[in-house]
Amino acid sequence: MTTETNRRRRRLFATEKMGGRAVYRFQAATMAAGILLVLYYRATRVPAAGEGRAAWVGMLAAELWCAVYWVITQSVRWCPIRRRTFKDRLAERYKENLPCVDIFVCTADPHSEPPSLVISTILSVMAYNYPSEKISVYLSDDGGSILTFYALWEASIFAKKWLPFCKRYNIEPRSPAAYFSESEGRHIHNLCTPKEWSLIKDLYEQMRERIDTAVMSGKIPEEIKLKHKGFKEWNSEITSKSHQPIVQILIDGKCRDVVDDDGHELPTLVYMAREKRPKYHHNFKAGALNALIRVSSVISDSPVILNVDCDMYSNCSDSIRDALCFFLDEEMGHKIGFVQYPQNYNNMTQNNIYGNSLNVSNHVEMSGMDSAGGCPYIGTGCFHRREILCGRKFSKDYKEDWNRGIKERGQEKLNEIEDKAKSLVTCTYEHRTEWGNEIGVKYGCPVEDVITGLAIHCRGWKSVYMSPQRAAFLGVAPATLAQTLLQHKRWSEGCLTIFLSKYCSFLFGHGKISLQLQMGYCIGELWATISLPTLYYVMIPPLCLVKGTPIFPEITSLWAIPFIYVFCMKTVYSLYEALLSGDTLKGWWNGQRMWMIRRITSYLYGFIDTIRKLLGLSKMSFKVTAKVSDDDEAKRYEQEILEFGSSSSPEYVIIATVALLNFVCLVGGLSLWNIPWNVFLLQFILCGMIVIMNIPIYEAMLLRKDKGSIPSSVTLASVGFLMLAFLVPIV
Ligand SMILES: *[C@@H]1O[C@H](CO)[C@@H](O)[C@H](O)[C@H]1NC(C)=O
Ligand SMILES: *[C@@H]1O[C@H](CO)[C@@H](O)[C@H](O)[C@H]1NC(C)=O
Repeated sequence: MTTETNRRRRRLFATEKMGGRAVYRFQAATMAAGILLVLYYRATRVPAAGEGRAAWVGMLAAELWCAVYWVITQSVRWCPIRRRTFKDRLAERYKENLPCVDIFVCTADPHSEPPSLVISTILSVMAYNYPSEKISVYLSDDGGSILTFYALWEASIFAKKWLPFCKRYNIEPRSPAAYFSESEGRHIHNLCTPKEWSLIKDLYEQMRERIDTAVMSGKIPEEIKLKHKGFKEWNSEITSKSHQPIVQILIDGKCRDVVDDDGHELPTLVYMAREKRPKYHHNFKAGALNALIRVSSVISDSPVILNVDCDMYSNCSDSIRDALCFFLDEEMGHKIGFVQYPQNYNNMTQNNIYGNSLNVSNHVEMSGMDSAGGCPYIGTGCFHRREILCGRKFSKDYKEDWNRGIKERGQEKLNEIEDKAKSLVTCTYEHRTEWGNEIGVKYGCPVEDVITGLAIHCRGWKSVYMSPQRAAFLGVAPATLAQTLLQHKRWSEGCLTIFLSKYCSFLFGHGKISLQLQMGYCIGELWATISLPTLYYVMIPPLCLVKGTPIFPEITSLWAIPFIYVFCMKTVYSLYEALLSGDTLKGWWNGQRMWMIRRITSYLYGFIDTIRKLLGLSKMSFKVTAKVSDDDEAKRYEQEILEFGSSSSPEYVIIATVALLNFVCLVGGLSLWNIPWNVFLLQFILCGMIVIMNIPIYEAMLLRKDKGSIPSSVTLASVGFLMLAFLVPIV
């Protein structure tokens, strides 16, 4: 065997099929049969008019849609896969010949995304276990705020202490905020002396305090402003919506004389705020990412781009090497356009009360799409090849130049490079170009990342989903109900917009990607539409119960079996998936509640808003989810108590109305004397399940007295709606 073939044998990554497929296929086949029987029963037993025909037909429609959706969700469950990398082989094969990497971090507003949080993320990615001179970190500040710039400047100084500290003692995670909060109390100082540990910690704490003070007061001390020319960019006229382009290279790693305290080179660090003028549309985060692609092309121009959200620090310093195992693999690497890591949160309580763990979606859906040809790009924790992000089509003959990139700066002055970069991020630069369309991240959609990923797949590239045991990136989970609902509304709305646009995976992907992958994309795209059947299912059966209209088969009839089977199997299988993905039993139960709440609020709103936009009644808007919460809220979050808060948003009214409705109907139904039990038993069970699920809602409505309980105005409104609901005739 020649060394050449030997080398080819030793792949840099492995792909393994996930087990449990026999169980799954048995489950899927019997479910399919059960669902068909249910639909057959519904379609053939429509009652006469006046005896609940409308309600019955509604049930049929709801079940039909759920059945279609169920079929779509099976696409990703058919044969999910896992990926494993061999970093030792990468190191052996490439030694010092590794490609350069550009890292993009986007922030939008110093008040909802505190700069001290942002720089923790920045520091964590600067400290990757990778040659520093090959890393360039870019921060895009869409708030155009001097506070963020100041924080980054502080970080550039602290990095000279932090990076050598990380590398000397090989500490993890390398976000100072996370590291110090985790190692506190546990007194694990690995190899470093407690003295050195406290020294670094004090430096960090002091820096954080300076930054937080500045953010609080909104002002930077004058003497600090003299320390860097970048502060001169700001004057009293600058606002977040109107300012000139700003590009400041805080550390120039390409000019080899900037070193840290141990004498090692540092990564390049760049601050960018693209030009903003009220007249010009800025295309939100997609616009910022495209601006970063251009700015980086004149500063470092690395072949690999990682982008992370500003609140998602790196929890594993080897992630770059992991990702490169895919790109540099001799056999498959040339087909891979991007490597996506899952979205994980560090703020999860054990039983994730808001159902935010995303475990199942990470474990099942992303892996399933990976097996079908490519997981989607989800906007954070993703490594792209620059060429592909910029629109290159797949061709077998294309060879990536992994050596590309600006390695060393010659005679060019920093000022000149900054000026060149600034000229690339003016408001008008993109006019009459393909940016936002064929080149870069796509515009015109609130979840631009997904269509960007879809377009890359349609150009012939594959993507891989890498989910290592130890999470690679950790973000901040929404810690209140309102934040959770807002986030899901945004996701579901954006995804439905895709479905109804030319980017619908069935149209756009037709003939370019597999049907299985088209269906996989559709799972998210159709989230919002599942709201109506769910709302119907939690409102009409209980109402029919008190009005004495049967809507399910009698329990003594054979037809009850498919209904019961489908219900039980769905529940048991979702429990199985949740436990397998790492949720707790209680976490799964909480997830079921949130699943219902999300569907009847976020998804419903998402659905309605998309339709309104389609009819031209409202325009696209974007709300940033706040990442800060007060102490009381944080405490309730840790105790896993639902947080409703003082504002009485209409979502809460829906939640409270549904909860009350089911309770009243259950009690009302139980108190009816001469009810034929066998006819109504299934309705009772459904109603009873919803009531049990909603126990925390009743507590928040009636028993709790804290500030996070449901405001009485909401309770009153829901009682009003409840009465209205009883006036609806069941025909
Ligand atoms: C997230 O968790 C950390 C540590 O558990 C905590 O310090 C921080 O306040 C939390 N953030 C939010 C927004 O809840
Ligand atoms: C983050 O990294 C630490 C090691 O530094 C590890 O113990 C922890 O489990 C990781 N977090 C997650 C969620 O995987």
